Order: sequence, then structure tokens, then C-alpha cells
Amino acid sequence: MIIINSEQAIEKMRIAGSLAADVLNMITAYVKKGISTEKLDEICHKYIISKGAIPAPLNYHGFPKSICTSVNNVVCHGIPNKKTLKNGDIINIDITVIKDGYHGDTSKMFIIGNASIKAKRICQVTQECLYIGIKKVKPGIHLGEIGKAIEQHAKKNNYSVVRDYCGHGIGLDFHAEPQVIHYNNNLIEKSPILEPGMIFTIEPMVNIGSYKVNTSKIDNWTVTTKDRSLSAQWEHTILVTEKGFEILTIRDEETI
Ligand code: MF3
Ligand code: CO
Ligand code: CO
Repeated sequence: MIIINSEQAIEKMRIAGSLAADVLNMITAYVKKGISTEKLDEICHKYIISKGAIPAPLNYHGFPKSICTSVNNVVCHGIPNKKTLKNGDIINIDITVIKDGYHGDTSKMFIIGNASIKAKRICQVTQECLYIGIKKVKPGIHLGEIGKAIEQHAKKNNYSVVRDYCGHGIGLDFHAEPQVIHYNNNLIEKSPILEPGMIFTIEPMVNIGSYKVNTSKIDNWTVTTKDRSLSAQWEHTILVTEKGFEILTIRDEETI
């Protein structure tokens, strides 16, 4: 069952979403060569708590930290640690907050210093994939149209789309129905039809090489590309409106 949110719930999701966006804005000044991802986690944790919210990842199915930090060949669910960022790294920071019971979930890529053209390009194309997916959203379309558009754009750039992790419905629950797949399959006509009031994330993970991934057998969280190629991800929380979509986690720097 996909929840159709009331106007009151939507208002709370706007607040949670804008706080999650605000955390990404706040952390930007710190995302520089030499800082550890553990330090980024600590700064975000304190900031989220200071706003009367809760960092949703902390203790979520045993996740040990408050944010996810996924560097270079890490696809998602990277655990903040003592390792410091170095020149040329690319890092996804994924923020999920719970405010007044409701979740806001968003992530973006940061480029550390002078990165290779290759590294900058995977970040940019993946952001384009997210925007192309978002622009499909309106009442009456099949959910599967989003992934079809995303994969088309990734493939055009000779990249692959990760299949093992999806976007998700979000609200009082962190992860709810529907599953938002980011690739094309032959089940589009069988996928749900969008209605105003639905809220879900779109969060494509795109790899330079193969779409295949591994999960760490050491920490049971860190997802990496099987071929060690670079991976990028961008995420927004999206409301389906009468006219189309509203991005609940939009940042001022964005023009879409
Ligand atoms: N924020 C991630 C998502 O976009 C989920 C992280 S779950 C965690 O769905 F436990 F790893 F934090
Ligand atoms: Co998400
Ligand atoms: Co997220």
C-alpha cells in the first residue's frame, strides 16, 4: 500500500525535508581535504540534534553512525571513520533526519580539490540522472517511467545503474512502499500509477564500470563496486502534486 499523505503530513514532510537540505548546506564548508568522515558525522549529528531532530541512520538496523559517507568506489552506506579526505576524492554525504516523527532524506556528491575529469563527470551525469527522473513525476504516470529515463541517460554516457538498491516511499517510516527502481525493466505497465500526495525518494547510484556491487563482509554495510570503479549518487525526497512534483529537499544552489 502506498500512503497518500494529508495536507498536515505534507507540511511536516516539508519541514523534515528542508532540515535535511539545510544539513547538506551546513556541512559544505567542512567537506575539505584532511577532514575525517567521522568528524563530518560528529558535526552533522550535533547540528541535527540542535535543531530538535534525530539522525535517522543512527542505530537503524544497527547502523553505527548518524550519516552515510561514501567515498570513490563506495556506492552507498559508507560508515564514517578516521580516514581523511584527500585531493581528488569524490564523496556522497547522505542525510536523513526525523523531525516531529517525519523523515527527510537527501544526498549529494562533493568533489575534494582538483579531481579528474572522469570523477567530475560521473558526479555531474548522476545529478542529471536524478533531475531527469524527477522531471518525469506527475499524477497518472507509471512509477517505472522514472527508472527508464534514468537508465537511458546513464547508458548514453556509458555508465551503469546499480540494481540492488532503490528509492523508497518515506514519511513516518524511513523506508516504505513503493520501491523506486532506477533502471528500465519490462514491468513498467505493472508498476503503480502516481497520485497526488505520494512521497518517495529518487536516489540513483551510477557506476563508471559494471552495475555489480559487493557488501562488506567486515562491517555488513559498506557497499562497493565489484570492479572497484567510481560510483556517484544524488538523492531527493519528492512529493507528487496535482501539477507534477515538489522537491521537499531542494537546496538554494539548485536550479531545476
Ligand atoms: N539514507 C539511505 C537511503 O537513502 C539509507 C541509509 S540506511 C543506513 O535510503 F542505515 F545506512 F543509514
Ligand atoms: Co533514501
Ligand atoms: Co538517503
